[in-house]
Amino acid sequence: MKQANRLRARGKDVLYLCVGQPSVGAPAPVLQAAREAIATDVLGYTDAMGMMALRERISRYYHERYGVDVPVERIIVTTGSSGAFMLGFMAAFDACARIALAQPNYPPYFTIPSSLDLVPVPVSVDDSSGFQLTGSHIATLAQGENGIAGAVVASPANPTGTMLSLAALGDLVATCERHGVRLISDEIYHGITFGEDAITALELTDHALVINSFSKYFCMTGWRLGWMVLPPDLAERVEILAQHFFISPPTLSQYAAIKAFDCTDELDAIVQGYARNREILLNELPGAGISHFAPADGAFYLYGDVSGLTNDSTAFCKAMLEEAGVAATPGIDFDQANGAAYVRFSFAGEESHMVEAARRIKGWLKSRSG
Ligand SMILES: Cc1ncc(COP(=O)(O)O)c(C=O)c1O
Repeated sequence: MKQANRLRARGKDVLYLCVGQPSVGAPAPVLQAAREAIATDVLGYTDAMGMMALRERISRYYHERYGVDVPVERIIVTTGSSGAFMLGFMAAFDACARIALAQPNYPPYFTIPSSLDLVPVPVSVDDSSGFQLTGSHIATLAQGENGIAGAVVASPANPTGTMLSLAALGDLVATCERHGVRLISDEIYHGITFGEDAITALELTDHALVINSFSKYFCMTGWRLGWMVLPPDLAERVEILAQHFFISPPTLSQYAAIKAFDCTDELDAIVQGYARNREILLNELPGAGISHFAPADGAFYLYGDVSGLTNDSTAFCKAMLEEAGVAATPGIDFDQANGAAYVRFSFAGEESHMVEAARRIKGWLKSRSG
């Protein structure tokens, strides 16, 4: 991203297939609610757990969307899902606890626990498990004195876009419960799916920490708001930590976010745009020699195997940026072990950029091989 910005500042025309955020802003009713809040409220602190009206709306959303009833006492509003991860890891585990995570992964699943004196345990995954942890990984890692105390999963996942089926998530939940392993389920890409809807861990258990955000489906990235549904035994501990670390989540954003749940038609139309972008890349990139992708069931990423073209995806991305003007993310950012064979393409941007990026990548790779 930094290199792409530097080149753009020098006047190069760069297409950003590296960004992990929607290219459109929040829906109009969200903006209107923010304007009204500025005009009518002093915007002081709220409860540490968030405004009751927003927590109630989140609870209602679980009922409407998934048919699950979540009491407001278990819902905390946080500063993005990032704030929820920090609170969740801190509250759920003692120092030195081992936490399993799939590799490739969203890097903070590694860095946040590490910085809290927890021990991340990356598990290399591939096509055979849809790039996801499985119940059998958990069962193996939970053995013995040094067994894991926790596990993080994401469905849809970043960087792969892969999702857990009901059976796979059910197996994970049951195995975690059998071995006393705390499951953290990152559901930030829910709503952005291209076939089956994503399943929330709340349909299967009350013991998981379920994390979500207004940043992706709801197009409110910079408003810095997310939420977490807590197991009943952790709610009070998290409330105290949130009070001391953050005092409250951002008040203006909370007023605005209440309206986001009424905008699903508009937000689903944006997802249709992602679906078109995804089709363009899936149809065009094979013509450039990038034909093997993790099953991109959701989110806005394609995780492409470039091992037929390079054994160093960082150098590959650098050359693609400098020579073709297309910025994508080398797999090494998500996977220290096998990432050199992968590139993540984000299709959150404009449709015309996808068409142009595919054209440029094809021409660039042709010129390299020729
Ligand atoms: C899988 C995943 N989880 C969590 C986050 C954090 O998002 P936020 O703090 O904006 O909610 C991101 C952001 O890209 C992500 O990709």
